[in-house]
Amino acid sequence: MTVDGPEQLEKLREIGAICRDVLRAMAAKIAPGVTPRALDDMAGVMLKARGAQSAPILAYDFPGHTCISVGDAIAHGIPSDIPLKTGELVNIDVSAEKDGFFGDTGASFPVGEVSGELKTLLKATEAAQRKAMFAARAGQPVNVVGRAVEREAKKHGFKIIEGLNGHGVGAWIHEDPSVPNIYYPGDRTRLREGQVITIEPFLATKSHQYVEDEDGWTLRLAQGGYGAQFEHTFMVTKGAPIVFTN
Ligand code: CO
Ligand code: CO
Repeated sequence: MTVDGPEQLEKLREIGAICRDVLRAMAAKIAPGVTPRALDDMAGVMLKARGAQSAPILAYDFPGHTCISVGDAIAHGIPSDIPLKTGELVNIDVSAEKDGFFGDTGASFPVGEVSGELKTLLKATEAAQRKAMFAARAGQPVNVVGRAVEREAKKHGFKIIEGLNGHGVGAWIHEDPSVPNIYYPGDRTRLREGQVITIEPFLATKSHQYVEDEDGWTLRLAQGGYGAQFEHTFMVTKGAPIVFTN
């Protein structure tokens, strides 16, 4: 959507803050032995208390309030009863609706102590998200996002997962435009003032593709290794982004 006035801005700030608070509360509980389902149950209670609805349930009838992807799962993981284990990464993606407005945020976290390579992967992916978000100004082509993400990935020798993109958001969970993490020089789409989008780079140690699991939801790394994602919802301006989810 494109923001048209202060009331809409206020509503986007509200749902953005709800998504952020749920993600932070879940993140604070991550530890070896904790189950993704326990984290997701907490998210369900929090969303309800704030008058919000899970976007994955509302839009896709997803079997969970949030997406929790563990190990070689990179996105759309169903919250399971398998306890988290030391040394792995877990990605939590929280998207929700209130009063017809949507927010979407995600982050990857270490479970207990993880390897140096995975710590670097987390830092690089978060840096890619921030750099791309600050490059995404009104009047610029959408592909400034892909360019910034590629630069950060190459610096560390990480791969970018193809086909998992940021997107428009606000009046629905997934809207136009698609915001690729890969640089397509021929893409002439331009960012507009007031446009609400997400940027969500997916970087990985080995894989540059994903495959869908038999469960029909979970997306797994096609070439193995580990992956990470960080995501924020924000409004495009001529200057710094107005971030709703941090
Ligand atoms: Co998301
Ligand atoms: Co998203």
